[in-house]
Amino acid sequence: MVLEAADRAAVRALWLKLGSNVGVYTTEALERTFLAFPSTKTYFLHLDLSPGSAQVRAHGQKVADALTLAVDHLDDLPSALSALRELHAHKLRVNPVKFQLLVHCLLVTLARHYPGDFSPSLQASLNKFLSHVISALAPNCH
Ligand code: HEM
Repeated sequence: MVLEAADRAAVRALWLKLGSNVGVYTTEALERTFLAFPSTKTYFLHLDLSPGSAQVRAHGQKVADALTLAVDHLDDLPSALSALRELHAHKLRVNPVKFQLLVHCLLVTLARHYPGDFSPSLQASLNKFLSHVISALAPNCH
């Protein structure tokens, strides 16, 4: 799944539009993931996962910053995300299937907040971008 120039442009344009609110949406996506796919909570038992939790918000901001870093390094995601790959793949041993669940919830969240922008082609571009991000976090990516 190649990230074409048009995909990159669409993702960058959306990120500009999200501005400083990326963390709001990643936090909503995490909350949706924990509710819709409770098996994902097992990785976060040390955090307060109740609705509106400040810890989930703080974690959401970290995920947002990582995604913004990825948007800024679309040509070299594996190296930009190598420390996070080490963390998720080798230290936390996150089952790669779980990444898809968070991606799904992030797409739902963005579709909900930006219904006018969320054309099928934007969905496809975002899906490609997020697929590249999660494969850069997976153990077999070097
Ligand atoms: C921590 C990003 C998916 C589990 C983190 C951190 C970032 C991050 C930036 C903080 C690292 C640090 O503090 O140095 C991402 C991104 C994801 C993703 C961009 C996918 C798009 C997941 C998934 C799970 C997961 C699907 C499990 C279901 C964790 C856990 C931590 C963590 C358990 C440590 C939390 C803590 O102890 O504070 N992730 N993550 N991540 N991530 Fe992810």
